[in-house]
Amino acid sequence: MISKHEPVVLGIETSCDETGIGIVRGTTLLANVISSSMDQHVRFGGVVPEIAARAHLEALESTLQKALADAGISLKEVDAVAVTNGPGLAGALMVGVGAAKALAIAIDKPIYAVNHLVAHVAVDILERGRLETPTVALLVSGGHTSLLLVRDLLHAVELLGETIDDAAGEAFDKIARVLGLSYPGGPEIDRVAKEGDPKAIRFPRGLTLPKDQEKNRYNFSFSGLKTAVARHVELAESKGEEISIPDVAASFREAVVDALVTKAIHACLDKGVPRLILGGGVVANARLREVAAERCQKEGIELRIPAFSLCTDNGAMIASLGAQKIMAGLSPSDLGFGVYSTLPV
Ligand code: KG4
Ligand code: ZN
Repeated sequence: MISKHEPVVLGIETSCDETGIGIVRGTTLLANVISSSMDQHVRFGGVVPEIAARAHLEALESTLQKALADAGISLKEVDAVAVTNGPGLAGALMVGVGAAKALAIAIDKPIYAVNHLVAHVAVDILERGRLETPTVALLVSGGHTSLLLVRDLLHAVELLGETIDDAAGEAFDKIARVLGLSYPGGPEIDRVAKEGDPKAIRFPRGLTLPKDQEKNRYNFSFSGLKTAVARHVELAESKGEEISIPDVAASFREAVVDALVTKAIHACLDKGVPRLILGGGVVANARLREVAAERCQKEGIELRIPAFSLCTDNGAMIASLGAQKIMAGLSPSDLGFGVYSTLPV
């Protein structure tokens, strides 16, 4: 029987292109090691699932050894293993889940399958010792764009909305390509946009019209925005006009950020929740942080932005959620669990 008091949990995350191993003791972070295969995806302009899966296979062992060394513990001291089993890229998830099951059997410890999105929220516990609830969570990365309502981390998490086409990070990556910038596009657009005028071009904010409010109030769409930016660039080129890349980048970034923050704030106000937590790689976006801070302050909403190493995909968030399950007395997963590219929260 595993101790409910400050269990040492090793978390494994392989849902996308980061191989993450994190170790926690209860609510305390002991190690958070990430190995990314991003470099191998650059020439494709996006994550290639097969390449990501192979990279996990190669990176897992060294990432594990480094995490144990950073935590200053041996495998024998691990009380339980936690692993992401969805949502994410199926092949990539299978590598992590296979490794986690083997590890759990080898050290004869229980295993906990963990939902990646809920884990993004659980990471906040490592910074403040507990999760303040209820909270709305806006999770934005290259793989997801989701709005969650968390009343209870283990028992009451509701998916309010998500993207109906591209993820926000994916939109940044695609538009960077249109503008001749390199991959990953988010940091590049952020850099170029600093010199641009965000009001230069009014690009559409997906699903924010009055007609969208009934069915899609909390859903996101970036495909119309993507087309609008591409058309703007093509039209200028066909007329032989020079476009201002900083202006296009700044106006595009403004449209994405406006849609993200508007919907997150709507969720907080509609549901009477005075708290918003951000997660995912797009949280690095300077303008997203700025606008979220401004609007949250105006509405009296507390904004939580975990350290960036805890916002991108990582193993610590998986370990943190695993530890919460153990401390709440939840049973471990049966070894037969599978992976799910879409997995309900
Ligand atoms: O969470 P993350 O590291 O994992 C994956 O989804 O794999 O997120 C990566 C995504 C990429 O699409 C990248 O372009 C985006 O986050 N990103 C940004 C910024 N930095 C990274 N998007 C907007 N602004 C940024 N500064
Ligand atoms: Zn993620």
